[in-house]
Amino acid sequence: MKKVNFLQGKDFLKLLDFSTEEIEKLIELASYLKQRKRQGKPHEYCKGKNIALIFEKTSTRTRCSFEVAARDLGMGVTYLDPQGSQIGKKESIADTARVLASIYDGIEYRGYGQEIVEELAKYSKVPVWNGLTNEFHPTQILADMLTIKERFGRLKGIKFVYMGDARYNMGNSLMVGCAKLGLDFVACAPEKYFPATELVEECKKLAEASGGSVTLESDVKKAVEGANVIYTDVWVSMGEPEEVWKERIQELSPYQVNKAVMDTAAPNAVFMHCLPAFHDLKTKIGKEMGEKFGVSEMEVTDEVFESEKSIVFEEAENRMHTIKAVMAATL
Ligand code: CP
Ligand code: NVA
Repeated sequence: MKKVNFLQGKDFLKLLDFSTEEIEKLIELASYLKQRKRQGKPHEYCKGKNIALIFEKTSTRTRCSFEVAARDLGMGVTYLDPQGSQIGKKESIADTARVLASIYDGIEYRGYGQEIVEELAKYSKVPVWNGLTNEFHPTQILADMLTIKERFGRLKGIKFVYMGDARYNMGNSLMVGCAKLGLDFVACAPEKYFPATELVEECKKLAEASGGSVTLESDVKKAVEGANVIYTDVWVSMGEPEEVWKERIQELSPYQVNKAVMDTAAPNAVFMHCLPAFHDLKTKIGKEMGEKFGVSEMEVTDEVFESEKSIVFEEAENRMHTIKAVMAATL
């Protein structure tokens, strides 16, 4: 088997910590591991190791991806659910890190502030992987980039438009990923939903070096014209208070991804979403909020979500292959 642990011992906390070349190599490794899985070829690069998954927020894709990827790599897994550990309640992050690092070879953490995962990593002698914080969702971006590369054969020069709340984890980390990899990133939202100025400035510099660009645009038509990728995320993220639904629906409805948006984008445009999505009323929260505020779809219409332009399920599958690459590279 080829040598894959080119980031051995490193944490994976945010894409800003990695060079363009390292991110490209992770995407290539994911593609290689995907092929091996498809061909039924073994790839137990981490045989005999064990990892712990800490989830302080719920998950379907990230948890399942870590679990299956770990098993494919030959590892054992322990899952600690949002109620099932002492973290932050009876035991500090620093103590938890030292305990888990003495038992496991790697730790995944999903939770609230980025500073929590950074602190966990500081006190852990084994690699820590960010499975989503309020600020960043780096493993999702690797999956998104692999999916775009598979579809278009390249990343450089792709016009990528993120619509909706661009100041949260998905908007922030997609902007960083695009800037590092040479895509033309556009945040399309009302001004108050743009990413923080400091991060935008940093990404503009990165984009200059990679041949990409970063643009903030509130006019939907201007933003989406000629776009190759239209991306959105939920308007209210995990951990946010219920009170924000009303203003989000009011302020972000003009930024919904619908047929008119897709028709304005390039003819080869695709629709992407990290999921879960509110594209109908078939979920408990979607139904409750939809009925309360008189809408039947939110960030994306069912028509676009179910259309041929939608590649959300390829994207979801790629979570597993890219998370596998992160673990194989860092262990
Ligand atoms: N996209 C994503 O992170 O999905 P989960 O919340 O289901 O893990
Ligand atoms: N912004 C969303 C992403 C979910 C994958 C959230 O944080 O809930």
